[in-house]
Amino acid sequence: MTAGAPIPRWALITGASGGIGAELAALAAADGYHLVLVARSADLLATLARTLTRLHSVEVLCVPLDLARREAANDLIARLAARAIVPDLLINNAGVGLYGLHQDTPLEAELALIDLNIVTLTRLTKRLVPEFLARGSGRILNVASTGSFQAGPYRAVYYASKAYVLSYSEALAEELAGSGVTVTALCPGPTQTGFHARSGMRHPLRILGGLVPIARPAAVARAGYQGLLAGKRLVIPGRVNWLLVESVRFLPRRFATAIFAFTSRPR
Ligand SMILES: NC(=O)c1ccc[n+]([C@@H]2O[C@H](COP(=O)([O-])OP(=O)(O)OC[C@H]3O[C@@H](n4cnc5c(N)ncnc54)[C@H](OP(=O)(O)O)[C@@H]3O)[C@@H](O)[C@H]2O)c1
Repeated sequence: MTAGAPIPRWALITGASGGIGAELAALAAADGYHLVLVARSADLLATLARTLTRLHSVEVLCVPLDLARREAANDLIARLAARAIVPDLLINNAGVGLYGLHQDTPLEAELALIDLNIVTLTRLTKRLVPEFLARGSGRILNVASTGSFQAGPYRAVYYASKAYVLSYSEALAEELAGSGVTVTALCPGPTQTGFHARSGMRHPLRILGGLVPIARPAAVARAGYQGLLAGKRLVIPGRVNWLLVESVRFLPRRFATAIFAFTSRPR
């Protein structure tokens, strides 16, 4: 690096091969962040990397990795260390869902979901927070869900995993207050990505009986990215989503769960 040259800023984004993660990568690149992009689909990551490098002249390191593997976070951190990269932004976006009666869904898929949505997110955060604290700055965006606020029959393990992400993020944000390190939980409602079909939903767009508008991933990513840069603790994109989340707080929990079950039942 030449004297006086700006210090390169890096964003580490998991689940960047499509959906909300790819949109977050585009926003960070447009802001001049170099990118570490992680997902399993090496070809999709490479295509995105070429596009963002061409558009924004940023450096992009693609790391094809299955983040549901228990060693994945350590492998990823080792890859960063080998390149002397300490990210300024950590975006824990990778996540999977699983739809169906709990008695029928495969345990292995549920454990992999927990490893991805909870364990790897926690490991990456745990490894990077001390480096952020040593530097006195760092921003973390954890992608949770509007499902973080209530139980989700027919998506029991997924909703429970997102409740963890929200609770963990809010607690860390409080512990880190005043340190220069911020933690933002992004809680999207239904968003037009391949997520629902991959979760095994047969009618992915009829969420809550079709009552909830389906957001575009670009809009969700923009809300999350702006919240991240502003150091907000909680971002719920979309007024209807915000209203639903707020109203659930005033309902008896059992009643809210029953309504959710009624509107989400497999048909
Ligand atoms: N879509 C919604 O309605 C919605 C609502 C609320 C919250 N969310 C949350 O938003 C986040 C992004 O979801 P999305 O809607 O953008 O879904 P998506 O289009 O399915 O994207 C998921 C991303 O995670 C990656 N991923 C999945 N399993 C992985 C694994 N084992 N290892 C590494 N990467 C993995 C996928 O890449 P590869 O397949 O290439 O690995 C992909 O890049 C998730 O955390 C999800 O829970 C989504």
